[in-house]
Formats: sequence, structure tokens, C-alpha cells
Amino acid sequence: MTHQFINTDVVSAITNLDSDIEVQTAFFDPPYNIGFRYSDKVNDNLPEHQYHKLISDTFAALKPRLSANGSAFLVHYPEACARLLPIIEAQGFRLQQWISWVYPSNIGHTKKRFTTAHRALLWLVHEDCKQPLFYPERDTQPYRNPKDPRVMTQIAKGKTGTHAYDWWNINMVKAGSREHNGWYNQIPYALIKRMVLTTSEVGDYVLDGFAGSCSMWPVANDHGRNAILIDLDPESEKKFQEFEGETNEE
Ligand SMILES: C[S@@+](CC[C@H](N)C(=O)[O-])C[C@H]1O[C@@H](n2cnc3c(N)ncnc32)[C@H](O)[C@@H]1O
Repeated sequence: MTHQFINTDVVSAITNLDSDIEVQTAFFDPPYNIGFRYSDKVNDNLPEHQYHKLISDTFAALKPRLSANGSAFLVHYPEACARLLPIIEAQGFRLQQWISWVYPSNIGHTKKRFTTAHRALLWLVHEDCKQPLFYPERDTQPYRNPKDPRVMTQIAKGKTGTHAYDWWNINMVKAGSREHNGWYNQIPYALIKRMVLTTSEVGDYVLDGFAGSCSMWPVANDHGRNAILIDLDPESEKKFQEFEGETNEE
């Protein structure tokens, strides 16, 4: 496996990928344009049309690099996804599924509305792709009734769970937890693993266009995929180097 980090803007990084690279699974966890203070390289308070252009240009760049049966995932607040979906579709993509990532949360309570505790995960494919590569049995969810005789028969056959629902109950990575990598907004290993295992094969290229903590790296490395990690922030490259260094020491 070979992993690479590209320290530049996502659009130019994807556009300038080596010509022989075909991406099987792409993941985008962009800044949410809510005024968050990332590095001085990122303006997280863009006029809406500029923000939409960033997402539009990202998918336009991906279009010729994504394999014919490949998948791209975008995670964001549901309201933002509702606005972004037509913009992405206009770049030649089709929504394969709208997935909800639900997470128990004790932050963000307000007297004005219900507490936000889920995000949308748009699963996108080429508009002419009838069926992307998909292996739901590779990352199942536990059986709810393991004592049910029919379920016991399945367990006796070696099955460990059932196909996952389109809502994924996965805890957020909390600061101070064992998984936390010292970055803001780190996406959980379990969530990346489900996308990667179910939509790509060993030896494929998987791409994370807003890599942050490089949370894609351990998933790709553990499961034999080649990771392409892109982020504007040079601090993100340090995370990449830490992961690469750990491997070289083994
Ligand atoms: C929400 S965070 C991603 C967190 C990451 N998914 C993780 O698990 O750690 C967004 C990231 O996008 C990066 N970023 C913002 N604009 C970018 C751009 N135009 N091109 C590449 N990276 C960008 C920021 O530096 C930040 O690290």
C-alpha cells in the first residue's frame, strides 16, 4: 500500500492527480461555512455562492477520476445537503442513497429547537452508474434479537450481523477519547470503515479531500487500500507523517 498527502486546495489536488490513478471511494467532509476558525488558509465564512462553487468544483474535478462503479460521500448538516444535492447532481452525479449518521450528543442544546444529533451522508455515484460496487456484508450491524431461532441459525452459519440500516448510529470522536487525534471535527474510524469496506476492494485508491486529522489513513492502512489525503492546512500533513512514521517503526 502507498499513501500520499497533498497539501493544497482540494480542486487542484484532484485535478492534478497522476493520470493512472482511478479513485474507487471518495470522501468529503468540508468546512461547514459556519465561521469556524480553521487555519489561516481557510475562510469558513464564504458568501453562499462561493461556498457552493467550492463543492461544485470539487465534484467536477472528481468526475473524470472516479471509477465507473465508484462512490463519493459528502457529510454535512442535512439542511446544507438539501441545498448542495442539486449542485452536485448538476456535475453529473446521482444520489445512490441519503444516509443519516446519528450520534448521541450532550452538546448543542438550545431552547429554540430540538438538539442537533445527526448529519446527512450523501452517497453519490456517476449519473449513468446503475449500481456501484457494494458489499454490505463486509460491515454489518449486530443482530437485534440474537436469541431468535432464525437469527441463531444465521449465527451458527458464521454470520455476525445483518446489513446496516441507512441510519448509522456511531459515536462522535470526543476530545480526550482514545481515538481522538488532537484535531477538530474528527470523523470516527467506524464511519469511514463502513464507507470504505462496502464500496471498495483491497488495492483500490480511496481519497479524502478534506483530510484534517487524516482519519482515513488508519482505515485505509488496516484494510489494504491506498489513501490519497488532501488538506490545505500544513498541520494536517504532520498528522499524516505521524501515521507514516509509526508504520515505518514497526
Ligand atoms: C471538517 S474538517 C475535516 C476533518 C476530517 N474529516 C477529520 O476526520 O479529521 C475540514 C478540513 O478541510 C480543510 N480545508 C478547508 N478548505 C479546503 C480546501 N479548499 N482544500 C483542501 N482542504 C481544505 C481544513 O483545513 C480542515 O482540515
